[in-house]
Amino acid sequence: MNTSVFRCEAAEIRLTAATGDKVVLQGIDLDIGRQEFLCMVGGSGTGKTTLLRALGGFCAPTRGAVLYEGRPFDGPPEGVVTVFQDYGNALLPWRTVRGNVALGIEASVSGAEREARIDAALALVGLKPAESEYPAKLSGGMQQRLQIARALALQPRVLLMDEPFGALDAMTKSRLQDELRNIQASTGATIVFITHDVDEAVYLADRVVLLAGSPGCIVSEIRPDLPAVRNQIATKEMPAYLHARHTLLERLHGAAR
Ligand SMILES: Nc1ncnc2c1ncn2[C@@H]1O[C@H](COP(=O)(O)OP(=O)(O)O)[C@@H](O)[C@H]1O
Ligand SMILES: [Mg+2]
Repeated sequence: MNTSVFRCEAAEIRLTAATGDKVVLQGIDLDIGRQEFLCMVGGSGTGKTTLLRALGGFCAPTRGAVLYEGRPFDGPPEGVVTVFQDYGNALLPWRTVRGNVALGIEASVSGAEREARIDAALALVGLKPAESEYPAKLSGGMQQRLQIARALALQPRVLLMDEPFGALDAMTKSRLQDELRNIQASTGATIVFITHDVDEAVYLADRVVLLAGSPGCIVSEIRPDLPAVRNQIATKEMPAYLHARHTLLERLHGAAR
């Protein structure tokens, strides 16, 4: 049985800039399993965002293949939702917080169910009190949470997230990390999550892949051996957590040299 959701086979991605063509990613071999929580880490410019965009259907491989459910695809596949790093531009300024969350589900979900989904998504990210505000009045962290709420309201099968907690304060970040693992456990979603925070990667992930180089490629992967239900204090004191963190930091620094 093929349980992989995404499969990259010797994928190369070449992008065009004003200065000419550039190979951004090369030789990407990656299988992402159903319900897997995969984190991607790596230095700036190693192609993490580009790889996420390829999985989301926003750019195509120039060699090799990127498959979703065993098939090549063109544009975002149904059920695959991307949370972009550029949260400000992802929001509609003329819609309220609530209106922005409604955006993706207006056509497909109606009446009471729609309102209930919006309420649940807003509550998860702590934005219920701000539901009538407009995005311009929100802080960066709130705008980021709003984009996350909109993605969650869609109840995606696959969630692709580019440094989604980067602008959040430490407490909000820990709470959303735990919510995200809970959501994944209850919905069976597959999550691909970019972060530059090694602690966040080890805490969240079933598997962490490390990208390095230019063109970027996957140079290493680790599977933190942690209990399925994490705890912000106890998990981070476990030898397996400390070991995974140590290994990842060592490889990250090694890759940057
Ligand atoms: N649209 C584009 N056209 C040309 N080059 C790009 C484009 N987007 C990104 N790049 C280049 O690709 C490389 C990888 O970028 P990116 O995927 O954003 O890396 P990361 O997310 O790991 O920081 C960088 O050198 C960047 O300058
Ligand atoms: Mg990036």
